[in-house]
Amino acid sequence: MDGMTFSADTQWPQADALVYDDAVRARVDHLYERVKDVITPMEWPKFAPLIDGILRLKEQRGATILAHNYMTPEIFNCVGDITGDSLKLAQVAAEAEEDVIVQAGVHFMAETAKILSPNKTVLIPDMEAGCSLAASITGEDVQRIKAAYPDLPIVTYVNTSADVKAYADICCTSSNAVQVVEAVAAQWGVDTVIMIPDEYLAKNVAAQTDIKILTWKGSCEVHEQFTPEDIEDLRAAHPDAVILTHPECPPEVMAKADFAGSTGAMAGYVKDHSPKKAILITECSMSDNVAVENPGVQFVKPCNLCPHMKRITLTGIYEALRDLKHEVTVDPVIAAKARASLQAMLDLPKADKPPHFDTGRDAVAVPYVAV
Ligand code: 13P
Ligand code: SF4
Repeated sequence: MDGMTFSADTQWPQADALVYDDAVRARVDHLYERVKDVITPMEWPKFAPLIDGILRLKEQRGATILAHNYMTPEIFNCVGDITGDSLKLAQVAAEAEEDVIVQAGVHFMAETAKILSPNKTVLIPDMEAGCSLAASITGEDVQRIKAAYPDLPIVTYVNTSADVKAYADICCTSSNAVQVVEAVAAQWGVDTVIMIPDEYLAKNVAAQTDIKILTWKGSCEVHEQFTPEDIEDLRAAHPDAVILTHPECPPEVMAKADFAGSTGAMAGYVKDHSPKKAILITECSMSDNVAVENPGVQFVKPCNLCPHMKRITLTGIYEALRDLKHEVTVDPVIAAKARASLQAMLDLPKADKPPHFDTGRDAVAVPYVAV
């Protein structure tokens, strides 16, 4: 492959035929400097040819890569065009100018991009990249909830299928959940809102607002694993560290942390405060990606891997772009209804920076919907 040049009509090689030659070195080795603290020199020769292929294919295809904060550092830092939390990626997807969007994230994120940009080709490197929250509820479940509670608005977390979004009234992410709950309660003139499907996010939101919340029995398989004892042990071992949690964690975990917010809010806190030591209670890649941006901060990494996010690899991105495969489609009727729920969220005033949750609040009772 040495010296091979690629053009629009070149047959691109298989991923495993790409080699780390002088031409690749010249084109992408400068990127290693950025990630040298989180990617070993032994790993780089494996990643570099794929990064090179992706960057060149991306240009050829007129594609943009949206990379969630939980992507591995070689994806997040070396091929992602837009990086951030779920809300930021949805906002960008709605305004994307490129013809092709590659979602370096899980399936519900790719569906969201397709719903918001129906005329674009949206690719996901692995169709099986799901989410335990999205798997916990169906559109039929939401229709049953609606029938049982016709007078209450249904807020759905974006971590759900297009079907679920279609039958809900408005979407939220962990960046705007409190704002969405309060806004929709005011619009409907009610004091109670149904918030699906993450019971922990619902409980954490309920502690931040006077609006009463009913929820669904769903949870994130990554964040539900953290326990209050984990935080106590970390606090004892690292008394000088700031502990940040994601609101998908159980409320007893959040109560013991110093800060809580979306992945975007956590990254923003570290950037703004530059703590000496930080502990991010969330998915494993997050600390690596925040560390790249904040070389002066020491990170303790008591993380849990998301098996769905980890299905997204450089090889998968390369192959999706090379073959324009794994295209995400959404039934147009469902997409139109789901778009209304997403748009209702996107139409709310944008915060300057992702707001955080107050970790000192008392727990509030949040019953499940009775259906
Ligand atoms: P945010 O990036 O919106 O905080 O979401 C976290 C998450 O679990 C996405 O799957
Ligand atoms: Fe779903 Fe949790 Fe993985 Fe996010 S981290 S994709 S919420 S399982």
